[in-house]
Amino acid sequence: MTRHAVLAGIGSTLPERVVTNEMLAQRIDTSDEWIRSRTGIVERRLVEQGTATSDLAVEAGRRALKSAALDRVDAVVLATTTPDHPCPATAPTVASRLGLGTVAAHDVSAVCSGFLYGLATGAGLIAIDQAETLLVIGAEAFSTIIDPDDRGTAPIFGDGAGAVVLRAGRRDEPGALLGMELGSDGELADAIIVPGGGSRQRTSGHPPAPGDQFMKMQGQTVFRNAIVRMTQSCHAVLDRTGWPVETVGLLVGHQANVRILNAVAEDLGLPAERAFVNLDRYGNTAAASIPLALADAAASGAVRAGDRVLLTAFGGGASWGAATLTWPAVDPS
Ligand code: COA
Repeated sequence: MTRHAVLAGIGSTLPERVVTNEMLAQRIDTSDEWIRSRTGIVERRLVEQGTATSDLAVEAGRRALKSAALDRVDAVVLATTTPDHPCPATAPTVASRLGLGTVAAHDVSAVCSGFLYGLATGAGLIAIDQAETLLVIGAEAFSTIIDPDDRGTAPIFGDGAGAVVLRAGRRDEPGALLGMELGSDGELADAIIVPGGGSRQRTSGHPPAPGDQFMKMQGQTVFRNAIVRMTQSCHAVLDRTGWPVETVGLLVGHQANVRILNAVAEDLGLPAERAFVNLDRYGNTAAASIPLALADAAASGAVRAGDRVLLTAFGGGASWGAATLTWPAVDPS
């Protein structure tokens, strides 16, 4: 019988430094009104000097372990776009700092869809008997790849981390990952890209151009594709799970833009109130966005044990996905 991955704990953390829209408008040609009305974002948290992704990931992981009442797990999967170093992966450092010794640990790179790809990887590690319990962490010091003078990206992104504990269990338990749908389209690789620092640039015979360490985004292309792909993957995963869309209690979409979340809810035929929103406070935290949203939703009572939850994301690659689970009785930490 297939061993199913069951969500057994959740935790999150955010940097303390709050950067408001007004603060951004002092540096770049933008306004609080423009950012609020075009994105829904009011403020975001950015790391202090000296804080790297692993620092956030360790804290979120510690809190998820506490929520699951565990002090050990058998593996760590870290979804991030901003590893501490290009090489090696950051997950082994996180595992060591959590006191987990020599457990399996690796990074997953799928930008804003990274947490969903991480869940799939974690479910696979459980299915093949590599792990009885594990951490899936989404953590980003995303501001480290953002040009603070680029008004197309600086207002959008923020930093933070969220983590869940998965344990081996049965498909009919609350918290079991019921369905998953993942996809990608490399034709859209340029829509969200850091041009410098990889083998493409290093074998070009040219040093990186100024600013090529920063992410470039084609905002409108991303916007259009995000709505289409998130909606399609939600339909596909609902079909696979056998859930009529109206039975979904909470849609937890990747927190990129409130207009994207509203459009996906509308295209699915869900009332806007069923789409969870916390991007007003944190902006787009890429791979951290879904676990941060789940932790907030659980803490605020927006999701309760027994509710049907639909997760969906779209991000660089392009990559996207959706997943279903019935919310378990867990207290976020
Ligand atoms: N402040 C003020 N004006 C701005 C601005 C800013 N920060 N950014 C762009 N503008 C201006 C543009 O110059 C343009 O002016 P013009 O009409 O005079 O030429 C106008 O606003 C519209 O620009 P546009 O790029 O079409 O804005 P938009 O409505 O597409 O919103 C995004 C831009 C980035 C908010 C939007 O495209 C978006 O959210 N995309 C998805 C981003 C995302 O989710 N990325 C991560 C996905 S994983």
